[in-house]
Amino acid sequence: MRPDAVPRDVLEKLIDAAVQAPNHRLTRPWRFWVLTGEAREELGEVMAEAARSGLDTSAGDDVGVVLDRERAKPLRAPAIFVVGIDQEPSDPVLSMENVEAGAAAIQNLLLAAHAMGLAAIWRTGASVYSPSVKRHFGLGDEDVLLGFVYVGYPAVTPPEVERTAMGKVEWWDGRRP
Ligand SMILES: Cc1cc2nc3c(=O)[nH]c(=O)nc-3n(C[C@H](O)[C@H](O)[C@H](O)COP(=O)(O)O)c2cc1C
Repeated sequence: MRPDAVPRDVLEKLIDAAVQAPNHRLTRPWRFWVLTGEAREELGEVMAEAARSGLDTSAGDDVGVVLDRERAKPLRAPAIFVVGIDQEPSDPVLSMENVEAGAAAIQNLLLAAHAMGLAAIWRTGASVYSPSVKRHFGLGDEDVLLGFVYVGYPAVTPPEVERTAMGKVEWWDGRRP
C-alpha cells in the first residue's frame, strides 16, 4: 500500500458498508477503532509489549528483531480498522452469532474497499488474542478482537489467485440421498 492518507469520508463509507452485515437479533455487536497517524505507532508499541511476554529467548528468539517487527506492523497501511465484538458470555449462541455478524461486517468492508479501488487485507496473528492488546481498546478478556483490516491505496496490483472449484458441495433435490 502507498502511504498516502485515505480521506475520512472514504473511511466512513467503509464503515457504512460494514454495518449493513446480516445480524441476528440486531445486536449490532461490532466495534470499530480507526487508527491513522501516530495511533498506529502506539498500537505497534502495545503489540511489541504483548509479543515480549511470549518470547522464548532460549529458543533463539532475537528480542530486538521480534519487537521491531511488531512495532512496524501497523505502519504497513495508512489506516487500520480494528474490529471487535462485545461478547455475551452468558449466551454462547448469541456470542457465536455476534462473531459471525462481525466477520460478515469485515467482509462487507473488504468488498466495499476493493470496489472503491482501495487495497485492503484482514490480518490477525497472536496480537488479537492478547489480553493487553484487547485492554488497549477497552475490551475485556471475554470480548473478541476479530482482526485488523489494513486499508490504503494500492502500490502494486496483487497477482491473480487461483480459487479452488466449489469444493465440497452436495446437491439434494428431493429426499436425502
Ligand atoms: C480471520 C482471518 C485472519 C487472517 N489473518 C491474516 C494475517 O494475519 N496475515 C495475512 O497475511 N493474511 C491473513 N488472512 C488472509 C488475508 O485476509 C487474505 O484472505 C489473503 O491474503 C488472501 O487474499 P484474498 O482473500 O484476497 O485472496 C486472514 C484471513 C482471515 C479470514
